[in-house]
Amino acid sequence: MQKSSIMNILLLGSGGREHAIAYKLAQSNKCSRLFIAPGNAGTMQCGTNVDLNINDFDAVKEFVFKNDVALVVVGPEAPLVGGIVDSFKEDSRMRHVMVLGPSQQGAMLEGSKDFAKEFMARHNIPTAGYRTFTAETLQEGLDYLTTLKASYVLKADGLAAGKGVLILDNLKEAQQELREMLQEAKFGNASSRVVIEEFLSGIELSVFVLTDGTHYVMLPSAKDYKRVGEGDTGLNTGGMGSISPVPFADKEFMKKVEQRIVSPTIRGLSKEKIPYCGFLFVGLMNVEGDPYVIEYNVRMGDPETESVMPRIKTDLVQLFTQACEGTLNKNAIDIDNRTAACVMMVANGYPQQYLKGKTISGIEDVKDCLVFHCGTSVGPKGETLTNGGRVICVTALAEGLPQALLASYQNADLIKWDGKYMRRDIGQDLLKYLE
Ligand code: AMP
Ligand code: GLY
Repeated sequence: MQKSSIMNILLLGSGGREHAIAYKLAQSNKCSRLFIAPGNAGTMQCGTNVDLNINDFDAVKEFVFKNDVALVVVGPEAPLVGGIVDSFKEDSRMRHVMVLGPSQQGAMLEGSKDFAKEFMARHNIPTAGYRTFTAETLQEGLDYLTTLKASYVLKADGLAAGKGVLILDNLKEAQQELREMLQEAKFGNASSRVVIEEFLSGIELSVFVLTDGTHYVMLPSAKDYKRVGEGDTGLNTGGMGSISPVPFADKEFMKKVEQRIVSPTIRGLSKEKIPYCGFLFVGLMNVEGDPYVIEYNVRMGDPETESVMPRIKTDLVQLFTQACEGTLNKNAIDIDNRTAACVMMVANGYPQQYLKGKTISGIEDVKDCLVFHCGTSVGPKGETLTNGGRVICVTALAEGLPQALLASYQNADLIKWDGKYMRRDIGQDLLKYLE
């Protein structure tokens, strides 16, 4: 058994989040071989990309077995919600393998909005008031909407690729959407149940925790920019940039977050005997200085990871091993005090129609910044090609937010392809919180 010593590691996923995690794992002297499945043109610089379907657990286990992998790190939510961790635990060949990620039951915190809301209610965790409806209770849902004030928040219960949340200003429209979600399966099976909740007015942030199911460490918090257009306009995306730390999340606010949300969440998981090791991502609304949970995710955020990982000074393999072995303690982590600013470059048209296969130039000109690949691939001549909507991002670390923004935009401007787009206002809304 290789635990706590030098080991082979398999990281599952293919986005900027995985490139940022791979970059940190590869720095560890506890990492022998690093495999990334399926990876992208960036993760290839940190280890070996492997062509695996990460939702085919038998294929993943076979690879782990053949390549003497001791630690599996699960990047995205789909394999977690699908039960990859349980699948490893139930397989006698795999029992010694550490898998960083929650059990299928733990992953329900992200996989079912209704489960998450009930969990929060059981543990007195502050969140928006809500009720859940099905096709059978549609009329009650329509009536419930009339008791709320605009805006109306409708959430498909299941995973809907980040598209299952609707926020509407008009009651009639909200009622129509509710009908479509419940009766016409607008989001497929994911909207067979719909959570309707009260609208929370405030400013959002993402809080990250690494837990072994009993103990936890707080990772750096971050803010992401979800809308495609400047000034937070236009369609929702996976995220157009991120900043860490978040200037308005001061000590007092973060203390409330820990006391009212993080600590009761971990205690709740432990009390309910829900096995959970890995990341917990709490999407929060700061409502006049008080934190409310908008959602749980059971993975790291993307592009938050691209500004969070560069600030973690502690050996990541050591942290992950502690999380898997149940030996995390609060002082286990060392954070870089500087500010990280990540600017995402996307393909024109994203999040709707866009072109792929464009040649990217200028990556080698980037200085004193980190470049994380998101949707990229390698072309026949070894060139880097666009291969997704979110293509590549640049993260700068600097003493302050203005300097970090300056450096990341200067470097992002050096990266070019036909049809590149980025928001120019990442982090601007946070400047007013700086003293
Ligand atoms: P989610 O997919 O749950 O992160 O929701 C997508 C976005 O909808 C969030 O990032 C928030 O901006 C917004 N949102 C979700 N729930 C609420 C709420 N109760 N009040 C206000 N905004 C919300
Ligand atoms: N950036 C938000 C997410 O990863 O869900």
